[in-house]
Amino acid sequence: MIDASDEWKKRYVSRIPHSFEYAGYTWAGMATNADKIISLKDRQFGPDDVVIASYPKSGTTWASEVLSAIAHEGDINLIRTVKINDRVPWIESDDSSLAANFPGLSSLRKRVVTSAKKKIYSTHLPLHLLPPSILRGDCKLLYVARNPKDLAVSYFHFHQMAKFLGLQNEMTWDEFMSLFCTGSLWYGDWFEHVISYWKFSQNNPQVKFICYEDMKIDLMREMESLEELVGISLSMEQRKEVVNHSSFDSMKCNKMTNREGNMLLDQSRARFMRKGIVGDWKNYFTVAQSEAFDELYQKEMKGSGLNFQFE
Ligand code: A3P
Repeated sequence: MIDASDEWKKRYVSRIPHSFEYAGYTWAGMATNADKIISLKDRQFGPDDVVIASYPKSGTTWASEVLSAIAHEGDINLIRTVKINDRVPWIESDDSSLAANFPGLSSLRKRVVTSAKKKIYSTHLPLHLLPPSILRGDCKLLYVARNPKDLAVSYFHFHQMAKFLGLQNEMTWDEFMSLFCTGSLWYGDWFEHVISYWKFSQNNPQVKFICYEDMKIDLMREMESLEELVGISLSMEQRKEVVNHSSFDSMKCNKMTNREGNMLLDQSRARFMRKGIVGDWKNYFTVAQSEAFDELYQKEMKGSGLNFQFE
């Protein structure tokens, strides 16, 4: 499982429409382009900006909805009518017609959400490709992480629906896991992504590192620390309302958050809001796969001081 043949790697890349290589990563040309990523080095962020970073399928949309609600001072009526991608644009996405369903920075400029006290952005960029302004601490940074077994299952399903990744329907779970374990997928190596951000977050008051599993256990508690990061405090009533509004069932039915109508996703094959649980990996990993992954996990995470909850 740990090794991926060159043939699988080549096939993965060849299926992605307009794929390109940059900085050692494979990128989806329908979502971004190299010029866009390079141009980010000049993009300035400020004290009123908050950037959410994550590896795909870590709970980015969930954290975005919660943070967006906090940025609107808990007034969820204000966020009910605007799509999540318009409220929380991707910094690396390209605004070309192909990426029309991945609104980038300019969408925020076009759609003025005046009521938001903070501007929220999201990114899947690895730490070393972040704009220097973010790395310098000009704005706040939130990293969302998820246990890699559940993340892998979610990412496998995402590949079934993502047209910009070439709807990799012929890819088996075994093949997918080999590519995941060798860091060959879109956005590269999970271990490298998460550990670099984890280290960056240590003793850095501008950066907060949260886990999907902790949000599942007690979202109210996690919200308090997000409010502290952003510098906006909600009342207990508002907090409860945001927790209800951002529950899995509520976000699944909410057209502003469930990515319904996004032309780049074929949700008849898999739903974006799929299960939203911890431990679904047990339905996919064989015993042998689980043991092999545990071994890799122990090796890669050793000395990082970071550990995940798998149940
Ligand atoms: P599953 O595929 O395991 O269901 P991202 O936004 O980073 O792409 O992550 C998507 C994952 O987060 C999906 O996981 C999705 O169902 C889950 N998710 C989204 N909103 C959620 C919520 N409110 N509560 C729990 N999980 C949520």
